[in-house]
Amino acid sequence: MFEKVQIAPPDPILALTVLFKADPNPDKINLSVGVYQDATGKTPVLETVKEAEKRILEQENSKGYLPMTGEPVYCAQVQELLFGEGNEIITSKRAATAQCPRGTGALRVAGDYLNKLHPDAKIWLSNPTWANHNTIFEAAGVTCEKYAYRDAKTNGLDFDAMCASIKTIPAGDVILLHGCCHNPTGIDPTPEQWAIIGDLLVEQGVTPLVDFAYQGLADGLEEDRAGLLELLKKVKQLFICSSFSKNFGLYRERTGALTVVADSAEQASTVMSQVKLRIRYNYSNPPSHGGQIVATVLSDKALKAQWYEEVAGIRNRINEMRHLFVDTLKAKGVDQDFSFIIDQRGMFSFSGLTKDQVLQLRDKYSIYIVDSGRINVAGMTPDNMDRLCDAIKSVL
Ligand SMILES: Cc1ncc(COP(=O)(O)O)c(C=O)c1O
Repeated sequence: MFEKVQIAPPDPILALTVLFKADPNPDKINLSVGVYQDATGKTPVLETVKEAEKRILEQENSKGYLPMTGEPVYCAQVQELLFGEGNEIITSKRAATAQCPRGTGALRVAGDYLNKLHPDAKIWLSNPTWANHNTIFEAAGVTCEKYAYRDAKTNGLDFDAMCASIKTIPAGDVILLHGCCHNPTGIDPTPEQWAIIGDLLVEQGVTPLVDFAYQGLADGLEEDRAGLLELLKKVKQLFICSSFSKNFGLYRERTGALTVVADSAEQASTVMSQVKLRIRYNYSNPPSHGGQIVATVLSDKALKAQWYEEVAGIRNRINEMRHLFVDTLKAKGVDQDFSFIIDQRGMFSFSGLTKDQVLQLRDKYSIYIVDSGRINVAGMTPDNMDRLCDAIKSVL
């Protein structure tokens, strides 16, 4: 069984974290990880999460299994956050939500659903995209294709190329769109562009799957749903994969959801009956704790308002670091234009640094960036900015 097994290749990003931890340099900087860090370099537990946990500890009276689709109160709160209170999609019950173990789990359940019910459907991923998208869908037996996204010359969206790609997608296929804060580029379509994308998808007969892992980290919890809502004006059927890892800081609590929007309540419930089976054959039912936290915070008006402020704190810190980074490089006399970093949103940006420059930063300055040049802006702090920008200037 085991003699001929060869060691699996390490995950490139997690392998960098191991190297970073082993680096004895006290001034080391980690811009490779996929978690938010505050100005002291910590990944904090939100105050609202702490308060919710206290209440849960006092009130929880059972550790019985959750239903396959999770806690109904949580699912209702997920929908309200996605579509806004009173949205027709909610009142008409055209949406059905299943609580899932993380955004990753939601993506996998969607992949299993596609593989079982639409075995010929391929999923189209932006070029580039989060590295796990490929592996999650391939593991579920769904073939992945690429559509054009980033313009390497401008570090912006190559919208014409994106539209041209969409026009080649066969009817019946699925396109994965990042709801906001595109990972890894930080480049998002404008609401006008979302509307055009929606029209094209209707023309082509292509179903969107919106991966919504960063709601609140771009321009605001409500502002960030603008793209999704534009899409929903055009498209009647779609999948949404939500994650609360980033905006609630619930990384290890595995808190996500898969939402299906359908033509009618009846259709949504039929589709969800099939989603349930995929869940049943995979992990049976979701973990509870993270979902309870989210439901507790979002069901309490005061806690919800406080959470909005905490998310604003995360978002503002990231956006401040974007400005400080560009300003500091300019002040140090770096000619290369990095102003695109200010226009991008979310935790990540493609820095445009080459692999050779990335390796020099690692070897000479203990600055850890993934080989593609993707940086986690949340790894920057006012304290490490000078050292970071001096090092970047020296390798440019
Ligand atoms: C684009 C994207 N989708 C989904 C996820 C999944 O998030 P999680 O599984 O932590 O909820 C991530 C996490 O980094 C992501 O960047």
